[in-house]
Amino acid sequence: MGETLPQKLPVHLGIIMDGNGRWAKRRGLPRSAGHAAGAANFKKITRYCASIGIRYLTVYAFSTENWTRPAEEVSALMVLFRQYLDEALRDFRDDEIAVRFLGDVSAFPKKLQELIRETEEISVGRTGMVLNIAMNYGGRAELTHAFRTLAQKVKDGSLAPEEVTEETISSALYTAGQPDPDLIIRPSGEHRTSNFLLWQSAYAEYVVMDILWPDFRPEDLNAALWEYANRSRRFGGV
Ligand code: FPP
Repeated sequence: MGETLPQKLPVHLGIIMDGNGRWAKRRGLPRSAGHAAGAANFKKITRYCASIGIRYLTVYAFSTENWTRPAEEVSALMVLFRQYLDEALRDFRDDEIAVRFLGDVSAFPKKLQELIRETEEISVGRTGMVLNIAMNYGGRAELTHAFRTLAQKVKDGSLAPEEVTEETISSALYTAGQPDPDLIIRPSGEHRTSNFLLWQSAYAEYVVMDILWPDFRPEDLNAALWEYANRSRRFGGV
């Protein structure tokens, strides 16, 4: 079943790219080597998702909590983000992949922020898959930001308190205008949401796989897609 694809694919797929550190440790390498292998795999799997017709892909690249990692590891990640965004500017063009960022990117080094802006600018008008890269992202921080935006509108008088609805909350999130994720894949075997797409994942299917992210292949993605296609989603109904 790993080679073919089911007919029913998720419209929006989320991936928690976990296990880079363990992958490196098993090889006696520094954690940054795991992130480098993870970044190369990010590019490969992103292009694969676009090629099979996934419409929205959201990857968790850096959480609001990741700043607490050793400075050396954080700076290695910043270098990788720059390298891959730079490459993405060129490589994703042929695939028509439109890149967006979820999170407070103002916390990143200036050069990286410029690259983020440039990547978003050249993505305007692209008609292929939307790739959301969650960077300095946390679900709680996103909701706090959204509630603050809505509270300000209520204070201004441009929004009535009863207009604070599921719809207006959704439209104040970083994913405004996008469908909620249907499937979230977590490689590396951990059964946790880790603050990823908290609001948007209310009805998402989760597939946890015992494979570290740098080893995660298109065949593994296909297996997760089959598992998703064979589940029955009831959205709280019967
Ligand atoms: C989690 O593995 C992974 C991260 C915190 C970083 C994810 C980043 C990448 C895959 C690199 C590049 C991404 C882009 C967009 C270029 P972990 O370090 O927590 O692994 P562990 O649980 O085994 O320690």
